[in-house]
Amino acid sequence: MKERIPQFLALFAERPIKEARGGKRAPELFATWLMVQTLRPAHIVESGVFGGLGTWLLERAAPEARLYCIDSAAAPRVYRSPHAEYFTRDFAELEWSLPRENTLLFFDDRADAVARVREAERRGFIHLVFGENYPAGHGESYSLKKALMGEAAPAPRGVVGRAWHAISGSRLGDAARYLEASLETYFEFPPPRVAPTTLWGEPWTDERYPTPPPLFEGPGDPDDLFVTEAQAYTWTCYARLKRSAT
Ligand SMILES: C[S@@+](CC[C@H](N)C(=O)[O-])C[C@H]1O[C@@H](n2cnc3c(N)ncnc32)[C@H](O)[C@@H]1O
Repeated sequence: MKERIPQFLALFAERPIKEARGGKRAPELFATWLMVQTLRPAHIVESGVFGGLGTWLLERAAPEARLYCIDSAAAPRVYRSPHAEYFTRDFAELEWSLPRENTLLFFDDRADAVARVREAERRGFIHLVFGENYPAGHGESYSLKKALMGEAAPAPRGVVGRAWHAISGSRLGDAARYLEASLETYFEFPPPRVAPTTLWGEPWTDERYPTPPPLFEGPGDPDDLFVTEAQAYTWTCYARLKRSAT
């Protein structure tokens, strides 16, 4: 991973969106870029486009791949790819006739990530990447990390869903058990560098913030993008479904 950083940074310097408020930052994009370069998928579905910085990077990571971009907002706010197909309906509502083996699903849409895994499994997909994979107690949506840390799934929306959730009792651990049974791989990309405190101003304890060891120790060069954007680390992960699930 360390060896790939100079190549990533040279590319990232050309990015069309420099101020990425609400969009992706360097640690997350490095992980996504690396994963795409490693897998070399022929098809990529990006769910959650926002300004389009992720789209721009995905195109450069896999120039030959077909790209399908989904966002409930009608248009990307800054960068629109001339090559991608755009959709505004949810991933779960769209028909997909893509080869499962070499399609990568990149979910960065603040939807329930465990529900995304279930939907991907139902359709036979194998390779998934999740942005904003926040730990228990943080972030606005249910992540794989929360599930694996034992946080219960949120009650579904709507009166019927909430009622069923209440009747069926505590779901604590259900999602973790499901993930352990259905995933062949769950891999969290390490932070290139670690900020002095977490994004929530707390010390990095293993109990509340279990995190892979950083690629680089120490304070680092203050001009280094991975130093200035260190707090934007989001435990981006690769999840690979078992093939037998198809
Ligand atoms: C964290 S941002 C995505 C950042 C983006 N990947 C980037 O590279 O900058 C989340 C995006 O998800 C979109 N969104 C919300 N619900 C969605 C859904 N059901 N499907 C797809 N996108 C959704 C929002 O409109 C927002 O643009």
